[in-house]
Amino acid sequence: MINSISEKLRAARKVVFVTGAGISQESGIPTFRGKDGMWRNYDAMKLATIEAFYDDPKLVWEWYNERRHNIFAAEPNLGHKAIAELEKYSEVVILTQNIDGLHQRAGSSQVLELHGSIVKIKCTVCDFKDEMYSEFSENPPLCTCGNILRPDVVWFGEGLPQDVWQKAIIHANNCDVMIIAGTSLVVSPANTLPIYAKQNDATLIEINPDNTIMTEDMDLSIRSTSAIALPELVSIFK
Ligand code: OAD
Repeated sequence: MINSISEKLRAARKVVFVTGAGISQESGIPTFRGKDGMWRNYDAMKLATIEAFYDDPKLVWEWYNERRHNIFAAEPNLGHKAIAELEKYSEVVILTQNIDGLHQRAGSSQVLELHGSIVKIKCTVCDFKDEMYSEFSENPPLCTCGNILRPDVVWFGEGLPQDVWQKAIIHANNCDVMIIAGTSLVVSPANTLPIYAKQNDATLIEINPDNTIMTEDMDLSIRSTSAIALPELVSIFK
């Protein structure tokens, strides 16, 4: 099957990746759904909401502090590194739902973070925004204006940063190949990106140990983990 599309891959001028939690799973960062999707006794899906934050900001910050600790200690895996290496052979843009920064740390230069970043914080009231790499001295952390700070990430019920989203659509519309790695494709609007690519005749490839809701739309589905499959796939472009 890979042989049948290898010519298209070698001819590709622009490759867009859509990535999700699964690509960082082999770096030791838990995914959101399935057996990994619980933190203590809480459903990650329910904690990643504005309601949960206003209900119990200390609890949500405890979860984020643990995630910050875990992410800062993690290293990019062979999947992230393979994508970074592909820049030698093609234009590469990554549209990621991840907030962990591992694509950038692997060396990728064009990364659009659709759901924000774990290092970014902002005030819930004033315009203050910053990046924070060290631990907070209080929980919840407070802004100089006296109000609570929050992670600058996108929670359920919130819109994506519009400038980032508009650019993501443009890249999805004009790529030759889209590689969708480590995402269940159940969260909107990120899960519409493969549709933009397909409408413009891009070749769609999925890397996931399991089926996704778009498996039938793929030109190729690789049932493997990203740290195994991506180095092999990238070697075809060379
Ligand atoms: P999910 O947890 O929904 O899906 C992870 C996907 O990765 C699943 O389809 C797994 O089968 C697959 N997977 C697991 N291990 C893998 C591996 N080693 N290699 C490749 N694939 C693997 O995570 P996302 O699709 O990223 O948003 O979830 C999307 C959004 O939902 C997240 O960004 C987050 C979450 O709620 C917000 O918090 C707004």
